Amino acid sequence: MPYYRVTGEIPRKRHIRFNRPDGGLYAEELMGEEGFSSDSSLLYHVHPPTAIVKSEAVADGLVPTKLAPNHPLLPRHYRTQELAVGGDLVLGRQPLAGNEDVIISFVAADAESELYRNSVGDETVYLQSGAARFESVYGAIEASVGDYVVIPRGTIHRWIPVGQAHVNALVIEARGHIRPPKRYLSDTGQFLEHAPYSERDLRGVTGPLLTDGADVPVIVRNRGGLTRLTYAYHPFDVVGWDGCLYPYAFNISDFEPIVKRTHAPPPVHQTFAGPNFVICSFCPRPFDFDPEAVPIPYNHHNVDSDEFMFYVAGDYSARAGSGVGIGSVTLHPSGFTHGPAPGAVEAVIAGVAAGRTSTDETAVMVDTFRPLQLGAQAAAAEDAEYAWSWARADKADIGRKHG
Ligand SMILES: [Fe+2]
Repeated sequence: MPYYRVTGEIPRKRHIRFNRPDGGLYAEELMGEEGFSSDSSLLYHVHPPTAIVKSEAVADGLVPTKLAPNHPLLPRHYRTQELAVGGDLVLGRQPLAGNEDVIISFVAADAESELYRNSVGDETVYLQSGAARFESVYGAIEASVGDYVVIPRGTIHRWIPVGQAHVNALVIEARGHIRPPKRYLSDTGQFLEHAPYSERDLRGVTGPLLTDGADVPVIVRNRGGLTRLTYAYHPFDVVGWDGCLYPYAFNISDFEPIVKRTHAPPPVHQTFAGPNFVICSFCPRPFDFDPEAVPIPYNHHNVDSDEFMFYVAGDYSARAGSGVGIGSVTLHPSGFTHGPAPGAVEAVIAGVAAGRTSTDETAVMVDTFRPLQLGAQAAAAEDAEYAWSWARADKADIGRKHG
């Protein structure tokens, strides 16, 4: 993250002696991106963060080689509500799609995760329902519906569901960093006035967590797979940190939609940028306001992108007949032109004539610049009829639409 935060106690200057109350020294740790040449933070541990005592391989379902090509080519529709419920927010992930740059998973978590460090890239966890406490070496974030929690690569953390309901989440794992789009930022990293959100919308951690413990396992993901490293001391022993690299939360309801007189393309909804992908937020907003506007998307073919869309909230009654509803995921790949379902344009124009002025749909989109392959578990929740829904011109009640 581009701007500076400080939490807890830190010494007067970097890299000077910082004494514990017992006279010993706190252990300084730099968490830094791009080889000391980008954002970083300095953390002060009670114990050395280097002390490991055991390393064990972990069999897991997160390995991207379990993805299969989208062949024969089809647009896809998955109903996440039909996926298995259970597990935790780390090992319970069910990969739906992925490529060399990003893996997108769904999880319906009902259990606390182990401590986890992703050393492949940043993660963004979007909570569709439920609530969870995110605990990390930096401190804790109370996350709830609509939150994106952005977790920098290497952050040791765990997820604890809160309340009775399980936590439905979309997990976006990058092979690199997930950041606000550069065009939203000044040269020195401040959000510009035209950006659809700003520093005030980002929630950092509450004070540092101080947890005692010995022989504490941490699941580490690197490109070789998963390893369980056992640490001599609990990693949550940081008395303070400062810097520009840390986890934070942003709620989708704090995204300020940008509306044009005629239909605006998805880049106005962009929220984050990752390596070879973008994350966009489709939020409740007024319809395009020209009297002659067609206030839903035109048919489009983004020749360089695959488009993954997760429908998370809102009134989808206009989509009756398409099968797309809350909890649905659609995948519209390059090689296929998609657009409003038969009858959707006429239906929304009629709605505007009758006084309808806005849409309350909420969706999260991931557009990738390399083809998405399909997760094995997704097939169990696939609507096999979706690909043919545009051809069902006789079904005038089909109202599928999106950005
Ligand atoms: Fe689209």
